[in-house]
Amino acid sequence: MPQQRPWSSPQHLSTKGSYPGGDSCWQIFLSFLLASLLIYWSSLTTAQLIVVSQPPHVADREHVLFQVFNVPNDVQIFYWYRGKDKIPAKEIARYIAIKPHRNNTGHSYTGRERITSNGFLYIFNVTRNDTGTYTVVVQTGISEYTEASLELYVHHGPDIPIISPSNTHYRSRTTLQIFCQTVSHPPPQYSWFINGEFQTSSQELIIPKITTKDSGPYTCFVYNPATGLNRTTVKNIEVLEPVTAPSIQVSNTKVKEKEYVFLTCFSNNTGTSIRWLFNGQSLGLTDSMKLPWNNSTLRIFPVRREDSGKYQCEVSNPVSIKRSDPIQLDINLGPSDNSPNKVNEVAYTVLNINGQSPKPPTSASPSPRSTETIYSEVKKQ
Ligand SMILES: *[C@@H]1O[C@H](CO)[C@@H](O)[C@H](O)[C@H]1NC(C)=O
Ligand SMILES: *[C@@H]1O[C@H](CO)[C@@H](O)[C@H](O)[C@H]1NC(C)=O
Ligand SMILES: *[C@@H]1O[C@H](CO)[C@@H](O)[C@H](O)[C@H]1NC(C)=O
Ligand SMILES: *[C@@H]1O[C@H](CO)[C@@H](O)[C@H](O)[C@H]1NC(C)=O
Repeated sequence: MPQQRPWSSPQHLSTKGSYPGGDSCWQIFLSFLLASLLIYWSSLTTAQLIVVSQPPHVADREHVLFQVFNVPNDVQIFYWYRGKDKIPAKEIARYIAIKPHRNNTGHSYTGRERITSNGFLYIFNVTRNDTGTYTVVVQTGISEYTEASLELYVHHGPDIPIISPSNTHYRSRTTLQIFCQTVSHPPPQYSWFINGEFQTSSQELIIPKITTKDSGPYTCFVYNPATGLNRTTVKNIEVLEPVTAPSIQVSNTKVKEKEYVFLTCFSNNTGTSIRWLFNGQSLGLTDSMKLPWNNSTLRIFPVRREDSGKYQCEVSNPVSIKRSDPIQLDINLGPSDNSPNKVNEVAYTVLNINGQSPKPPTSASPSPRSTETIYSEVKKQ
């Protein structure tokens, strides 16, 4: 007797009675082998479930039916899973096909799924999150049949497109390069419009050497032919000339203490911000300083000797910044000043110099200031 094959049944062979020898034995054996092969083949084909998505493509909020064909007759349970893993966490639901028939929901059930009595999975009001693989398992009394190959793509979008980078101001004579992006399946068609005029049907828009005339509304239009939906985003772009360096005019560069001084910043550019600098740092405003006319004038009254130093104004727009040349302001004591306030201040300063006050010098200029005061008082005496 030849070695036992997995598909043969020695018991069955032995029912043929005594083991016959010669050709007839081989005929019986071969016919049996053929029959076994046929049974094996047909059991293979019934095991092959066929799963079809109806319709093949769905859009957001539509409904879909996954049909199962070639199902064995003696089905006991239909299981449906999200993904390829037949694990409880991924089970959507099961339908028990033997009495009493019932539907049981699983961990991946969202409330929008139902299994019909013939094992079809119905998902209503699909979302983009339903995109993915689905697996059906058919359990009969003796075995389990699996199908891991159904992919659902939910057509969705486009969402509102985003134009990047986010800045809206561009310097003239540079290259404008902006990019439009959205979420959509399948990928959408992109179009760019400037001031309502079509430019290009690509995701990116590049305009070399822009001028102020290129300012205006830039529209990105996205269209998904599968869903028939479209969306737009508009970005207002302003192309600006860089500012030119401003200049300062001063009422008088040699000013006496307690008098007025006006500094005016002249700029040929409109729509700019003006900032004042003192000795290279942002000017800290004192009570005697005012910035009328949108910072274009700096008025100091009464002026003090600490106000001596280098003044600059800085103009800027969103694409550029420029500073004026510095103007040196020297605040001097008036030689003919005999007011009582002056005498008091001198007396106080002299007191400090005599070393009666423990107060240490606090700013960069106390020593020259004191020297000046002594000199001034000596002259008066
Ligand atoms: C479908 O789902 C959306 C959310 O994805 C919900 O707003 C809408 O009410 C649902 N429609 C139905 C008929 O359940
Ligand atoms: C964009 O969609 C709206 C409806 O939301 C429709 O009225 C319009 O005609 C569409 N535009 C284009 C160019 O397809
Ligand atoms: C402003 O423009 C005029 C002529 O257009 C020029 O003479 C002047 O120097 C400019 N001033 C500044 C601060 O750029
Ligand atoms: C005036 O200057 C201050 C700081 O010095 C600045 O914060 C403000 O924006 C300026 N205003 C204008 C109109 O330039």
